[in-house]
Amino acid sequence: MIRPLRTVIVNGSLHRPSRTQVLLDALRDSLNDHLALHVHHIELVNLLPELGAALSTDALPTDAQHAIKAIENADLLIVGTPIFRAGIPGLLKHLFDLIDMNALNGTPVLLAATGGSQRHALVIEHQLRPLFSFFQSLTLPIGVYATPEDIHDGVITSDALQQHIQRTINLAVPVLQGVQARLLQDTAVTQEQAA
Ligand SMILES: Cc1cc2nc3c(=O)[nH]c(=O)nc-3n(C[C@H](O)[C@H](O)[C@H](O)COP(=O)(O)O)c2cc1C
Repeated sequence: MIRPLRTVIVNGSLHRPSRTQVLLDALRDSLNDHLALHVHHIELVNLLPELGAALSTDALPTDAQHAIKAIENADLLIVGTPIFRAGIPGLLKHLFDLIDMNALNGTPVLLAATGGSQRHALVIEHQLRPLFSFFQSLTLPIGVYATPEDIHDGVITSDALQQHIQRTINLAVPVLQGVQARLLQDTAVTQEQAA
């Protein structure tokens, strides 16, 4: 039997309410129409202020250590971030600096970002994608970027963004079905070896 993908959604926003969260929720819901997911949400804002002061996972409080473990053990990561000063927030990078460098090898990662304008849409391509390339993760074909023109009062109001989300999910689903099939195979082999 297919088991739900352990999906960890990381929001790099430091504020509430968060436009990035709205985008991440839409991606999750759209993906859920195609695949069984077991979702765990991690919001960077909940890991403050201790995260910034910790130079190793040992120095983190338990909830932040659990967040790190959840990321390391995910079958699928969905990472969304606001753009700060033409890049990703330093604290989001710091969170991933604490992740075991081998833990995300082959993990599929869906990328998303929100900014004040279209000007920094390519931060997804020149900062987020290279970060997960370092981890040898499987970044999914296209990322999604949104601005205040697209999201009002917690609701996606732009048809263009809705269509882009659909396109992103349509490209991601076949890859994730392959990942799910591989996980199933791995489980069967482990069970066979244990028998
Ligand atoms: C400190 C700070 C710096 C920002 N710098 C940029 C920027 O360089 N480019 C941009 O497009 N938006 C910038 N923004 C706007 C945020 O990226 C945007 O409002 C984002 O959608 C906020 O996401 P959130 O609601 O999930 O926190 C900045 C916002 C803050 C607070």
